[in-house]
Amino acid sequence: MDIYGERINAARDLMRRQSFDYLLIGPSANMYYFSGLNTSPDERLQLLIIPASAEKHPAALLPEMYLQKAKEVIASTYSLHAWPDNADPFAMAGDLIGNNGRMRILIDDTMRSDHLIGLGKALGEAEFEPASLVVSSLRAYKDNSEVELMREAGRAADRVMEKVREEVKPGMSESELSLLIEIEYRQQADDISFKPIVASGPHAAQPHHSTGSRRFEVGDLIVVDCGALYRGYCSDITRTFCLGKADPEMKKVYSVVQEANAAAFRALEERGSLSGEELDAAARLVITEAGYGQYFIHRTGHGIGLEVHEEPYIVEGNREPLRQGNAFTIEPGIYLPGRFGVRIEDVAVITGAGPERLTSYERGLIEL
Ligand code: CO
Ligand code: CO
Repeated sequence: MDIYGERINAARDLMRRQSFDYLLIGPSANMYYFSGLNTSPDERLQLLIIPASAEKHPAALLPEMYLQKAKEVIASTYSLHAWPDNADPFAMAGDLIGNNGRMRILIDDTMRSDHLIGLGKALGEAEFEPASLVVSSLRAYKDNSEVELMREAGRAADRVMEKVREEVKPGMSESELSLLIEIEYRQQADDISFKPIVASGPHAAQPHHSTGSRRFEVGDLIVVDCGALYRGYCSDITRTFCLGKADPEMKKVYSVVQEANAAAFRALEERGSLSGEELDAAARLVITEAGYGQYFIHRTGHGIGLEVHEEPYIVEGNREPLRQGNAFTIEPGIYLPGRFGVRIEDVAVITGAGPERLTSYERGLIEL
C-alpha cells in the first residue's frame, strides 16, 4: 500500500471511532495529503469521497478535463468518475455517496460554500462537520519523508534571507524587495509559501503589515517574513534587519526578542515534553520580564506543513503536549506602535533525536 492508502486508512480509523460515515475533500492541502493531486479550486466541483467503511472504495469525482492528470496520479487509490461540463456533479456525488438518511459527513474546511450547499441538497438529511476534526490530528504529525522536505524548504528560506541581506538598500521600496524575494524563492525552491511581508520603519510595528510603496530610509528596522514552498511543504522565517545603525532602544528590543526566541528553543531541548501553552509561556516570560509584555500582541507560533498555518498552535490554552513529528514556528516579537517592531521567527520540528531547527539564518542584529 502506498503512502496515500496508509493515510486514508488512518483517517478511516478515526472516522469510525467518531461515528462519521464519509470524508469529502475539495481541492486543498488535504487533497494533496490524501492523493498527491495538486489542483486549484474554482467553480467546477472536484471531490475526493472517502468512506469510513473499508468495504467501500475511495472515489474521485472530477471535471472531465482533469481526467488525464488524475489517471496518472491517483488511479491506483481512487475509482475515477469524470463529469462533463453539461452534467450535474452534485447529483453524481449524491449517487456515489448514496442518500442513506442521517449520515454524518466530514467536509473539507476550505470547501467553497456553493459546493457545500450543492452537496447539502444532494444528500438530504446528512449532518456536516469540519474535516479538521479528523484530518488535523493526522497532518500535525510529520513522518520522516515529510520532515526531509521541510528541511529543504527551510534551507531555501535561509538562502533567501542571505539574498535579502545583500540586496536591501536605502530608497528601495517594500514591494520591490517583496518581488525580489518571490523571484528568489522560485529559483531556490518551487514557489513562495505566502506573500512576503516586508514592513519597514513604523510599518514594522504591525505584525501583518500589507507590503506597500514605502521606501527604506537609513535608521529603519525592516521586518522581512517569508517562506518557501517545496514539493508541497512550507517554510516560514522572519528576520529584522537594521538599515544603518540601530539606536539604543532598538538594540535593547532586538536583544530581548532574540533571547525570547532562544529561550523557547532551549525549553524544548531541556524540558522533554511540554505543551503549546508552555512553549508560548517560555518565550513570553522573557519579553514580559523585560517590560515589553503588552507589546507582544500575538501567539508565539503555529504549526506548519502543507499549509503555513495549521495545528499545533503555540498559544495559551493549548495544553496538548508537543510530540515527535510536530513542526511549528517560534516567532516572538515586540511592536511599538508608530515607532518600530522586531520579530525573529524560525521553524522547529520534534524528531526522534529531539528538537531541530529547520531555519537557522543568523539571528544576531545585522546592521546594513
Ligand atoms: Co512568518
Ligand atoms: Co509564522
